[in-house]
Order: sequence, then structure tokens, then C-alpha cells
Amino acid sequence: MRLENKVAIVTGATSGMGRATAVLFAREGAKVVVVGRNEARAKEVVDQIKAEGNEAIYVLGDASDLAFCDEIVNKTVAAYGTVDVLVNNAGMLSMSSLQNVSIEEWDKVFRVNVDSALKLCQLVAPIMKAKGKGVIVNVASVASYAAHHGFAAYISSKHAMAGLSKSMAWELGPEIRVNAIAPGAIHTAMVDSIGGPAVLQGMIDNCPVKRIGQPEDIATVALFLATDDSSFIDGQIIKVDGGFEC
Ligand SMILES: NC(=O)c1ccc[n+]([C@@H]2O[C@H](COP(=O)([O-])OP(=O)(O)OC[C@H]3O[C@@H](n4cnc5c(N)ncnc54)[C@H](OP(=O)(O)O)[C@@H]3O)[C@@H](O)[C@H]2O)c1
Repeated sequence: MRLENKVAIVTGATSGMGRATAVLFAREGAKVVVVGRNEARAKEVVDQIKAEGNEAIYVLGDASDLAFCDEIVNKTVAAYGTVDVLVNNAGMLSMSSLQNVSIEEWDKVFRVNVDSALKLCQLVAPIMKAKGKGVIVNVASVASYAAHHGFAAYISSKHAMAGLSKSMAWELGPEIRVNAIAPGAIHTAMVDSIGGPAVLQGMIDNCPVKRIGQPEDIATVALFLATDDSSFIDGQIIKVDGGFEC
């Protein structure tokens, strides 16, 4: 029970790696706040956690609305009294090229992928500082390191997430540790939206481990980063990508 008596907010927990992280954190004793937009899936995650004898609530809203971040933290404190761990995992993909991306799309991608993480961090930091301890885990990407054609807004937002994570570590320490995970190709709805089996096979071929990642591959690293097992790791962007070459 590595997160016993801890309260964890996981954004984007209605699907993919956020869902796997929420379920694993609850199994490790955390009271989990499941954040997302889709009520049916949010309820499903909370029902699963409760069916396993663990504790969770859900908070629904759109991360591009920054007032929603206040609601997340207010509802967390109302339900569980504090926040110990924040996982900024919610993210959206954009497959527009540099030439074609509209400013509206660019803004939305940054709102969801970066601004909401900044805002949540600003809201939970005083709570964590006051108790002298807290952990923030951000979800960046292998797209935080590399670029290729298309995906201009997404790649830029994930580069920003890497810089934001390092800045957070410097400004919030020593009480709060902040690290980011940079997933490679993980089999979730987001990856399925890029293409079919040929795209997946291309991703597998680009990994020395010769398999696609699973959401649980990220959840276990998020757990490690959320606990004192990683107490000397701070301000790092940790690739969890099976050796993926972008
Ligand atoms: N899959 C990969 O290979 C991969 C690789 C590198 C990085 N990542 C990053 O990993 C994170 C999780 O992605 P995933 O692959 O697990 O994708 P996913 O299965 O599509 O899950 C995305 C999650 O983000 C939430 N979300 C999206 N837009 C939102 C918004 N506007 N407001 C609130 N919540 C929103 C979704 O909630 P609802 O469905 O309830 O709206 C969902 O819970 C993202 O930050 C993504 O960029 C993924």
C-alpha cells in the first residue's frame, strides 16, 4: 500500500493511461479523484475502483476551461481534505501541419495539454507546501524531444510540458517533487485515432522491445514517481517508450 492515506488527482483518468494510473493508485491505498469529460466512462472507472474495495470520486469538465481546474481542487478538498499527488495526464492530439493549424486549434491544444497543468499546479502547490510534502507527475511525450511532419501544435505543447515540468521542480522544491513521464507508443484511444494496424506495426517496428506499450506500463512508472521510492528524482523527463525511435 504505497499510497496509503494519500489523496491523488488524476486528470484524463476516464481512458487510457490515466485510467490505468487511477486504478493502480487506488489499489495502492490512495483516495483518487478521477477527472475527465465523459460521464459514463468516469463512472465506470470509479465503479471499478469501488468494486475492488478502494475509494474514488469523479469530477467532470473540460480542461480547456481553466475555471474547471478550481472546481477539481475545490471538490477534492471538500471530499478528502487535501491533495498529496497530482497527475497532469489529460491531453489532446492535433494532427494539423504547421501550415494548416489554426490559431484556435493551437490555443485549444495548449489549453488542454499545458495551461491546465500549470493552473492545477498553481492551485495544489500551496496545499502541498503547507503540509511540507507533495508530488506532481506530468505526462509529456517522446514528442517532447523530437519532431516530424504534422502534429505541430501537439509536438510544441509537449516540448512546453517538458520545460514546464523542469520549471515546476525548481520553483516548488524542496517540498514538492515534480517529474514528467515521456510515453512512447502506448495502445490507447489516442494512438488508435492516428491510424489502423499498419500505423501500430510501424510503431512496434521502431522499438527494440518489439511491442506496443500498454497503459499499465505508464501507470507503474507514475506510481514509482508518486512515492518515496523516487525521492532523489526531481525535474526529470523520463522516457517510457520501449526504446522508441521517433
Ligand atoms: N498514447 C500514446 O502513445 C501517448 C504517447 C505520448 C504521450 N501521450 C499522452 O498521454 C496522455 C494520455 O493519453 P492517452 O493515450 O491515455 O489518451 P486517451 O486514452 O485518449 O485519454 C485521454 C484522456 O484525456 C482526457 N481529455 C482529453 N481532452 C480533454 C479535455 N479537453 N478536458 C478534459 N479531459 C480531456 C480524456 O477525457 P474524456 O475522454 O473523458 O474526454 C481522456 O481521459 C496525454 O497527455 C497524451 O498526450 C500519449
